[in-house]
Amino acid sequence: MNILIIGSGGREHCLAWKISRSRLVDKLFAIPGNAGISQIARCENISYSKENFKDILQFIEKNGIDLTVVGPEAPLVDGIVDYLSKKGHLVFGPGQMAAQIEGSKVFTKKLCMNYNIPTAKAEFFNKSESDKAVAYIKGLKEREFPYVIKADGLASGKGVIIAQNKEELLSALNSFFIENKFGKSGENIVIEEFISGFEVSLLCLCDGKILIPLDLAQDYKKIFDGDNGKNTGGMGSYSPLPFIDEILYEKILNKIVLPTFNALKTKKIDYKGVLYAGIIVKENEPYLLEYNCRFGDPETQAVLPRLKNDIVPVLVDCVKGSLKSTKLKWDDEKTVCVVLASKGYPETSSKGDIISGLEEVASQKGVFVFHGGTENEEGKIVTNGGRVLNVVAKADTFKEARILNYETIKKINFNGMQFRKDIALRVEETL
Ligand code: GLY
Repeated sequence: MNILIIGSGGREHCLAWKISRSRLVDKLFAIPGNAGISQIARCENISYSKENFKDILQFIEKNGIDLTVVGPEAPLVDGIVDYLSKKGHLVFGPGQMAAQIEGSKVFTKKLCMNYNIPTAKAEFFNKSESDKAVAYIKGLKEREFPYVIKADGLASGKGVIIAQNKEELLSALNSFFIENKFGKSGENIVIEEFISGFEVSLLCLCDGKILIPLDLAQDYKKIFDGDNGKNTGGMGSYSPLPFIDEILYEKILNKIVLPTFNALKTKKIDYKGVLYAGIIVKENEPYLLEYNCRFGDPETQAVLPRLKNDIVPVLVDCVKGSLKSTKLKWDDEKTVCVVLASKGYPETSSKGDIISGLEEVASQKGVFVFHGGTENEEGKIVTNGGRVLNVVAKADTFKEARILNYETIKKINFNGMQFRKDIALRVEETL
């Protein structure tokens, strides 16, 4: 089979790596890819914005692509799966209606409220209701803060603000409705209670009829150790999660994920692709924080190296609605993924800084280096974004995986490289 991957991050490099190991693959392509992906796939620099879908279609037809795997949320929300499927192509990912689960926070929150899926209580406002939103905020009790304000639409992970008091919430509201900081995405907002607890990511493969959960992972969203500083796209992850017992796991599945999947079916939305549930656990009870309509980044980088199956037939089964007979098999080994980010991230990102040490670590046993923001400049691999590299180590224990990971990182360098030192530290002593 000829397979095309759409996207350019660590998630897509990991998917490309996993797909490249399939016995079914003849040729692997990526749009647009990055310097790491280009070592295993032919990359073509086409944008995946909506106005370029026709160029992607042309590429698929010219290169005899049998399966397209869409990584990022934006083309999914823009309907790339519907567009290419209507032309007769096999595409992994949800259609536009289903992708609303990530593309509209209002849609998802209302779905949860209508189907009794546990989540934070929320109110909804649109731009024309600014006065109503101000009055609502003024009526809140200071002792009940923090509150969270979210843009309805996609905002590259920046559309969520946690406000510690009324003043901060009013100022956040201004940034949506007056300053238009989030454009159209922020014209509708959700204001919800803040739930404190620990987060887990459960990614499920769906074929429209059934879903199969992947092993759990945990993501580190804050830039600094100890969960301090600004939110990022994700600074690290690990898998599996030893502290989630069967009772809690069943609650996540039966109170949140399955009711959502079934609620979508009731609405005649057959969800195919990855349904990613971002869960927060408070006092042993799970609540839905958000859904994503795609593989998580950097969760994918921790999860897929532990998957024993050939991934290609599994992806095809998702698209064709034939997941029923699939059984996923997992390595007992543990993975730890640490993101190496550029100086100034998440506010800024870097371009053109030479990355050293990649060749030395390339052949290291139990280590995978998945590229995110990198590009090839006259034969040298240089930075090209905020989250530059994902170093993944796999070992019998989390402790060994952490040691292997941080020893590997010592060999890699680029100007202003920053990373967290506490990824998987909380599970280091578990087996
Ligand atoms: N790890 C967070 C995300 O993929 O959105």
